[in-house]
Amino acid sequence: MDDIVNRAAQLDLRITDILLTHSHHDHINGIEGVLNHASAEVHLLKPEYEFWQHELDRPSLHHGGDELRLGDTRIKILHTPGHTPGSACYQLGNEIITGDTLFVFGCGRCDLKGGSPEDMFVTLKNMKERLPADMLIHPGHNYSVKPTATLGEQVDGNPFMHYEDCDSFVHYRQHVHDKTRDEPYAAVTRQQLKIAHLL
Ligand SMILES: [Fe+2]
Repeated sequence: MDDIVNRAAQLDLRITDILLTHSHHDHINGIEGVLNHASAEVHLLKPEYEFWQHELDRPSLHHGGDELRLGDTRIKILHTPGHTPGSACYQLGNEIITGDTLFVFGCGRCDLKGGSPEDMFVTLKNMKERLPADMLIHPGHNYSVKPTATLGEQVDGNPFMHYEDCDSFVHYRQHVHDKTRDEPYAAVTRQQLKIAHLL
């Protein structure tokens, strides 16, 4: 929290808005501290607020597809359930903040409360089909050999993006992935999954 407040002070910025990707502790534990320094609006998706069941003074509750404007910057909010019911990704121009939904060559776990591997399958399929290949992703954790990558690199090298049917995806996510891959994650091609009889 101090890092955020100090960095804003260094840059002479006023914190006016806090955008939550989801409600897990490691993604929200700085809110109270920041709010003690700045009167900011907290943005999140309505289904995540309902899932979280946490009182916020004046939350700004959104639906997937809503758009925010911060100064001249337009931010599109995508509803990307799977890791949690109301996980959000924030699209700014050709870059996207993906929280714990999409990691470089990985994706968020779906076995915690509120997680759904079936929803994650649909979420990743939508991202693959609807977002441009040169879009840069900014995940909430760096479990990979590099902190950012393009969506096109994910389509080619993220094993979770290779599955065409939901059942196989769910099996890989819930029962195979964690036993067969180590961090830092590197690219896995479709062919490699096929050779390992995982596709
Ligand atoms: Fe999380």
